[in-house]
Amino acid sequence: MSKVTVVGAGNVGATCANVLAVNEVANEVVLIDIKEGLAEGKAMDIMQTAQLMGFDTVVKGVTNDYAQTNNSDVVVITSGLPRKPGMTREELIGVNAGIVKSVASNILQHSPNAILIIVSNPMDPMAYLTLKSLGLPRNRVIGMGGALDSSRFKYFLSQALNCNANEVEGIVIGGHGDTTMIPLARLATYKGIPVSTLLPAEKLDEVVKATMVGGATLTGLLGTSAWMAPGAAASAVVESIVKNQRKMIVCAASCEGEYGMKDIMIGVPVILGKNGIEKIVELNLNADEKTKLAASEAAVRKTNGILHDMKLI
Ligand code: LAC
Repeated sequence: MSKVTVVGAGNVGATCANVLAVNEVANEVVLIDIKEGLAEGKAMDIMQTAQLMGFDTVVKGVTNDYAQTNNSDVVVITSGLPRKPGMTREELIGVNAGIVKSVASNILQHSPNAILIIVSNPMDPMAYLTLKSLGLPRNRVIGMGGALDSSRFKYFLSQALNCNANEVEGIVIGGHGDTTMIPLARLATYKGIPVSTLLPAEKLDEVVKATMVGGATLTGLLGTSAWMAPGAAASAVVESIVKNQRKMIVCAASCEGEYGMKDIMIGVPVILGKNGIEKIVELNLNADEKTKLAASEAAVRKTNGILHDMKLI
């Protein structure tokens, strides 16, 4: 039996709840929002697909009633504003930081042992804020960004290779920002074949660039942040935890010496199992990749500095 709460019934939260239900990731999903009736409506809409889709997960929507989230195993936090065209994720920090901090503390009052998945932007600093302000062990706070960015990387690679996206492997480390994410082109493969031997360097470079601005491109097209892949990426992170799948997924994790980093949450490959982050996987990066990671780390650390300025941690 597993219970998952999704906080925020906006596009990303509702999509996440829907994917959790359709894939029967949990027995029970509680969707909670501050806007009267929104979570109830989205949950009812999802439940009216149960017979059509053939799933048994029960999705329940509630307005602000944290008691209903009691004893959740995993909680996904999507609360806060999405970005608008032309905005960076970092610009959302002033509004979203206070929201995420209060949501996370409400959640912990009712689910003191829950594993928290942070989706709200700017994602890496929001995960760091949650970890630091609540004093949680590092295995229990996980930022979703790398799962999404890696999925976009595989999509763009499959487009360039004209192949099935499920036969492509690719990982994106670093911050979840337009200039901070690092698609690791050197390690990407198609059926085990390095893509660097299948695509010209310029094409691979285009794929890397498209991945980095993947979220911004969709924000331009949609007028608000994307939600299908973000919701599905959060669900995949939850699934590896509640089913103890021990998948290697890139997530923002609290590094304590791994990759030479300390006191930061940033995208690195992790093994996700029943305890949340079971292990951080240390890749053997080359000099160029190390330089990029150091720059990404510096940028994320600078945004984290705003949290100190705001006296939130
Ligand atoms: C994106 C937002 C959710 O990348 O950060 O689409």
